[in-house]
Amino acid sequence: MDIINITYIWILIALIVLPINLIYKAPYGKHSTKKWGKSIDNKTGWILMELPALLTCPLIYFTISEEINLNVVFIVLWITHYLNRTVIYPLRIKTKGKKIPIAIVASAFFFNMVNGILNGYFLTLLQFESISELYLILGFIIFIIGFYINISSDNLLIKLRTNQKGYVIPNGKLFNYVSCPNFFGEIIEWLGFAIMTLNPGSLSFLIWTICNLIPRSKAHHKWYKENFENYPKKRKAVIPYLL
Ligand SMILES: NC(=O)c1ccc[n+]([C@@H]2O[C@H](COP(=O)([O-])OP(=O)(O)OC[C@H]3O[C@@H](n4cnc5c(N)ncnc54)[C@H](OP(=O)(O)O)[C@@H]3O)[C@@H](O)[C@H]2O)c1
Repeated sequence: MDIINITYIWILIALIVLPINLIYKAPYGKHSTKKWGKSIDNKTGWILMELPALLTCPLIYFTISEEINLNVVFIVLWITHYLNRTVIYPLRIKTKGKKIPIAIVASAFFFNMVNGILNGYFLTLLQFESISELYLILGFIIFIIGFYINISSDNLLIKLRTNQKGYVIPNGKLFNYVSCPNFFGEIIEWLGFAIMTLNPGSLSFLIWTICNLIPRSKAHHKWYKENFENYPKKRKAVIPYLL
């Protein structure tokens, strides 16, 4: 079976996982439960599960490419995102004493490995010169906006834990419109990446991100409404004014 067919099957799996994610909440963070078996330290879990994406994609590009070409720009954007997610973000989150189920770490490890391999492979094959300038510029701008929204929203959540250990209602910036602007930013970011690179690998990653984060944002939104009587009524889950 060739890599294109594998990627389409991978996309199909994401679409099958979507309704499952809508029914069963991923049991970490706000939705932690002991029912999912053994767990490990949360920060260690994040580093372990994101590591394959940080390593595989650049490794494939630098091993297969005969020379460093312009596609390296996409690899640098990938590394920038995953350096934050794998190293900086886990070291900054204030989740001391919190655990994450090994089952979640293992499934995310597998997800990140397949994702990293597919993106590494397609980014290596990409003909940079054949991408239209319009897609490149548009995709890049969307990617940067998404990256900024994702990081600044994660930062705001991290700051909420400065003086207390539990959960409070986040306010300010895009939190005034949605419960999960960090997820909104992540979706925008990979949408930009897919527009810039136009290949089955980045498309599959965008679809997986949507199938993971839309259900999680709906679960977070419901959780906020159930746990805070004064939760702002007009706030949506993930897409301002829409969803
Ligand atoms: N591309 C993908 O498929 C994908 C999948 C999953 C995650 N991600 C990205 O990974 C990042 C983290 O994801 P996540 O699911 O852990 O995000 P999250 O549930 O929003 O939590 C982010 C951090 O903020 C803390 N936090 C959340 N709400 C809080 C509140 N109301 N008060 C105080 N602290 C609060 C959390 O602590 P607790 O852990 O204690 O809840 C956690 O440390 C996000 O940027 C997301 O976009 C991407």
